[in-house]
Amino acid sequence: MAFDSKIRPIQWVDGVSRMLDQTIIPYEYKYVDITTGQDMFDAIKNMIVRGAPAIGIAGAQGVVLYAQELRNKNLSLKEFKQQLLEKADYMATSRPTAVNLMWACKQQKDIITNSGSDIDGLIKELTDKAVEIEKDDIERCIKIGENGADVVPKGATILTHCNAGALATGGYGTALGVVRSAYDRDNTVQVFADETRPRQQGARLTTFELAMDGIPVTLITDGMCSYFMSKGMIDMVCVGADRIAANGDTANKIGTYTVAISAKYHNVPFYIAAPLSTIDTSIKSGKEIPIEERSHEEVTHINGKIICSDKVKVINPGFDVTPNELIAGIITEVGILRAPYEKSIKEAFEIHQKDLLQ
Ligand code: MRU
Repeated sequence: MAFDSKIRPIQWVDGVSRMLDQTIIPYEYKYVDITTGQDMFDAIKNMIVRGAPAIGIAGAQGVVLYAQELRNKNLSLKEFKQQLLEKADYMATSRPTAVNLMWACKQQKDIITNSGSDIDGLIKELTDKAVEIEKDDIERCIKIGENGADVVPKGATILTHCNAGALATGGYGTALGVVRSAYDRDNTVQVFADETRPRQQGARLTTFELAMDGIPVTLITDGMCSYFMSKGMIDMVCVGADRIAANGDTANKIGTYTVAISAKYHNVPFYIAAPLSTIDTSIKSGKEIPIEERSHEEVTHINGKIICSDKVKVINPGFDVTPNELIAGIITEVGILRAPYEKSIKEAFEIHQKDLLQ
């Protein structure tokens, strides 16, 4: 039995999207209802909901919200479909790096294009798909957790970066799914969480959700990982992913690449945990992954207060790409993929095509 995490960051409830506002955790634990397509676009962009699988679910729900709005416009079925396809394309641009968002919007676009139903029937099909994507994600996370737990050493200290937990998915988590399943088997496992500048997902979200589930967690700043690895205090790294290229190069939260280099130097296995929907087989390598550039204020300000000269230049990429040679394995719902990744990824898609949502 997998460890039961009760956190559900985003759900479809009575025709609206109910999501935990992740910008205010840990100060408040509050749900907000998102009722329009544009509000969903903004919620994704402003990271009220964040994490690759969670914004995929949000994107799918956002298309349903747009469909509900368009229903009131007395359009013909053809016009309705045409306008909704444009809205789905727009929703997919709310953030650029995590491919789950584009993947989920594409799932909805396929329904819009291929459905033979009238407008009400089509909206029902889109709603069912959004709910299916959410539920399916939780099941896949539990499988990722179980597969990953097999490679967690007894009593391990696992370093993680950012938040790839229940909060970043339908529930349970990818990297933190591995932690949950490992802890369920061996309660001497513990986590070191990087704070994750500049948005502090590690400090604000990872420590919050692990503490909520009673899993031991120690907070460290981003610059400390090499120090603790050199002391032999880290047995394994496990992080999530926003997009994995066909050759295994992996985009994840800025700072992940630094952790991977340090892990290689100190002989600490560095694992990625992600569902197959995070793998973008249409791109050959990480060079093709678009990296989001976020507001400079995220770097210059903390809690609304400036922390540097107001004349300073700032660059703020939200993600970096870890080259495949630094990755010990990609833990997926269908097993752990190993190098050479071109081959293992291709095979995983060939064998499991039928199990993918479509
Ligand atoms: O900017 P964020 O908070 O959306 O970035 C999230 C990450 O980088 C996660 O590690 C990744 O999306 C995997 S979530 C299971």
